Order: sequence, then C-alpha cells, then structure tokens
Amino acid sequence: MNCNYVAFEGIDGSGKSSIIEQLSKILDKNKIENKIVREPGGTKVGEGIRDLLLSHDYNVSSLTEALLFCAQRSQLVNELIKPSIQSGIKILSDRSAYSSVAYQGVGRELGYEKIYQLNDIAVGGFWPEKVVLLDIDPLVSLDRQKVADRIGGDKIEFFQNIREGYLRLSEEFSENFLVLNAEKSLEENLMKICNWFGIDET
Ligand code: TYD
Repeated sequence: MNCNYVAFEGIDGSGKSSIIEQLSKILDKNKIENKIVREPGGTKVGEGIRDLLLSHDYNVSSLTEALLFCAQRSQLVNELIKPSIQSGIKILSDRSAYSSVAYQGVGRELGYEKIYQLNDIAVGGFWPEKVVLLDIDPLVSLDRQKVADRIGGDKIEFFQNIREGYLRLSEEFSENFLVLNAEKSLEENLMKICNWFGIDET
C-alpha cells in the first residue's frame, strides 16, 4: 500500500463505514497491519467530545462546534494516529480535518480558508496523505440514513453546500483525492480504491 494515513470522506449516508470495513479486511488478508479510527472520537477524550458534538441535548454554536472538532482531532492525531504510523500501522480514518473544512467551513459558513487554517494548527500540519471522497447527491444519501444525530439531521441545503465544499477540496488537492460516485456498487468502488493504493484485491 502506497501510503500510511488515508481518510474517507463524504456527506452523511455516503457509505464510508462499509467501504472502510471491507478495505480493512482486504489489508488483513494481504498482511498489511491497519487500524480503523473514527472522528469525532477514537480516544477517551475524543469520545467525550463526540457526545457534546452529536447529542441533541446541547445547543452548540457553530464556532464552538468547529473548536470541539479541532480539540478531539488534536488529541487523536497525537495520542493514536502518529504513534500507530510510527509503529508501522496504516490508518484508515472515518473522517478527518477535511470534514471540518466542508461541514464547518462551508456548511456552517465559517469560511473554507479559516477552518482549513484552524485545523492545520490543531493537527500540527499532519493531514491525511490520501483522501477517498464518496460523492453523492444528498437527496439520495439522506434517504439511506437510519438515525440522524444533531449534525446529520440538518436540512438538505446544508448538505448540498457541504458537497460543494468537498468538491472544492478535491479540486484544490486533486493529486491526493480519489473521487468516487457513491451510488455505484460497493464492489466497484472497492476495486477502484485497491487499484489506487496498489493493493491486491483478491
Ligand atoms: P457520525 O455518526 O460519525 O456520522 P458519519 O457516519 O456520517 O460519519 O457523525 C459524525 C457527524 O459529525 C456527521 O454528521 C459529520 C459531522 N462532522 C462535522 O460536522 N465536522 C467534522 O469535522 C467531523 C469529523 C464530523
């Protein structure tokens, strides 16, 4: 596999989790040690912050939301991601700082550049090397969602803007992004991912 830290991105209901699980199994078969992490969360501090972020019990302002995402991410990168990579483990991350640029920067209108910079500080410049973006029309993806959390339950326009934010990121960082149509089958997308990473899929 040609990189150590991969993020899977997309709007709610784009099917990231299933693809990550399948990819992890393929890596296991190829004897490539790997770990799945999720954001927000992944550490004890991060799981506490996750509850503050996603529960319907709290009224969280947009800037507070952006800062809480940064806080859990800073902890995750330093406590788990960097040490794992140093010991030779590949990280498959369900979301990353790119989620914040799309959701908080564009979706919440805090500013694409500003949220990029804020996250750059939070992760100390340690961004995922590669990003798989599962692109999908929110009208389709939101239908797939089972139970919506505080952020995932927002209105359709919010997700349309987030999708635009992601596409902007994929253009700006085109050499690091693989953009997939999330309406295609899991098998087809998995094959494209394996090809991109130079992994034997069988
Ligand atoms: P989660 O249950 O992990 O949903 P998903 O399976 O869609 O990833 O909840 C994460 C929610 O938080 C989701 O609505 C996206 C949102 N989010 C942000 O708004 N900014 C971020 O930086 C991250 C990591 C997630």
